[in-house]
Amino acid sequence: MDDVVVNPRGALRGSVRLPGDKSISHRALLLNTLASGPAHITGLLDSADVRATAAACRALGADIEVGLSGVTVRPPERLVEPADVVDCGNSGTSMRLLAGVVAAEPMHVVLTGDASLSRRPMGRIAHPLRALGAHIDGRDGGRLAPLSIRGPVQHALELDLPVASAQVKSAVLLAARRVGVTVGEPLQQGVGSRDHTERMLRRMGASLEGEGGRLRLEPVERLDPVDVDVPADLSSAAFFLVAASLVPGSEVLLHGVGVNPTRTGVLDALQAMGADIAVRPHPSPGEHAEPIADLVVRSSVLRGARIDGALALRCLDELPVLAVAAAFAEGETVIADAAELRVKESDRIARTAAGLRALGADVEERPDGLLLGGGLTAGQMDADGIAGARIDCTGDHRIAMAFAVAGLLRGPVHLAGADVSTSYPQFFADLEGLLGS
Ligand code: S3P
Repeated sequence: MDDVVVNPRGALRGSVRLPGDKSISHRALLLNTLASGPAHITGLLDSADVRATAAACRALGADIEVGLSGVTVRPPERLVEPADVVDCGNSGTSMRLLAGVVAAEPMHVVLTGDASLSRRPMGRIAHPLRALGAHIDGRDGGRLAPLSIRGPVQHALELDLPVASAQVKSAVLLAARRVGVTVGEPLQQGVGSRDHTERMLRRMGASLEGEGGRLRLEPVERLDPVDVDVPADLSSAAFFLVAASLVPGSEVLLHGVGVNPTRTGVLDALQAMGADIAVRPHPSPGEHAEPIADLVVRSSVLRGARIDGALALRCLDELPVLAVAAAFAEGETVIADAAELRVKESDRIARTAAGLRALGADVEERPDGLLLGGGLTAGQMDADGIAGARIDCTGDHRIAMAFAVAGLLRGPVHLAGADVSTSYPQFFADLEGLLGS
C-alpha cells in the first residue's frame, strides 16, 4: 500500500465522471442474485468492496458477466452453498448484507474480512438474525467476524433495531424475505438510515409498506430482475465539493450524482457553511428510482456550522471531509450525534481529530463528534520549517481522501497507507485531472 504526499497545487477546474455509488452497486448485484431472471447494470462501481460482493454472488451461484456496456447478473435457480469461506475484504456492507442474504437459506456460510472489518461490530446483525431463527456464531460470541451463519430464518417477527443502520435494516429485510418481517429503527428528527434497499426491493415487486422508522415486508415469492443505472456516488463527490469550496478560484462540475434525500446531508451542511453549490436535478426516471443531479461547485468563503441530529445522520460518511472544511472555515463548528463514526472502517472521530491536530487545527475530540475552532490558514507548512503532517490512513479510504483535500490547502500532508481502492480507485488520478498541469 502506497504512501502519498499531497501539497497545495492551486485551483481545481473542470469536470469529473465520478465512480458509481457504492451502496447502490452492492445492492444491484446482491438483489439481482436473488431475482427470477437476468438483469443489466450500468455504471457499477469497480472497486475492491464491490468486487468482494461480486465474488460472493458468484460463490452463491450467480453468473456475473462484465461486458463493455455494463454488467449482466444471471441468478442461479436457487442459491448454492459456497464451497469456501467468503472474504468480504474491507467491506461492512458486503458482510452485513450477505449475512442477511444467506440467513434466509438452508446453508452454512462463513464470512470473513480484513483487519479493519474484523474489528467492526457484528452483534448488531447477529442479534436480529438470531431472533428470526438463524444460527449465528463468530468471535466474541458472534460480535466479531469471522461470522458463521446457518439458515434458514424460521419465523416472521416484529423487530425494533437499537441503531439506525441501513446495513442492519437491509440484512433483516433480506434475511426475512421468505417469511416477512416488520422492522423499526430509531429516527433522528424523523429521518432514518439510507433507503436504497427499500427502493430496489419495491422496484422488484416486493410488497414493502412504510417509510424509514417502520417497514413491513410481506413474504416474497419472487423478485423481478431490475436493471440498474447506478448514479455517481455523492460520498465520493464530497471530496471535490469540499476541495473546490476551499481552494480559491475553483469551479468543478460533477455529473449524474445520486441525491437520495437520506444521503444529501453533505450538500445541506456545506450550504449552511456558505458553500456555492448549484444542484441541477435530472428528470426522474420513474417510481422508486434514485434521484440524480449534476452538481456545480465554486469556491467561496466557508463559515462554521452546527452538524448534528438528522443532518449528521444524513452525512455520516462525509463527516471527516466536512471536518476538514470546518478546520479551514471562519468560526466554530460543532459535529455531534455522530458516535457511529467510531465504528466505521476506523475510529473516524479519533483519526480525524489526530490528523487535524497534526495540521495545526484547533480541535477537541468528543465522544460523539468534534468541536473545531476553525481559522486554519492555507499554505506550505514546511515553509516555516515544519515538516508537514503525517496521517495514518491504514484501513480507511475516506480518511485518506479527506486528508488529501487538507493537503491541497496546507501541505505537505503525508498519507500513510493511502488505499482508496475500496471505494474510489481513480481518486488521485481524477484529482490530478482537476488540478491541471
Ligand atoms: C451503508 C450504510 C452506512 C454507511 C456505509 C454504507 C450501506 O452504514 O456508513 O458506508 O451501503 O448500507 P450504516 O449501516 O451504519 O447505515
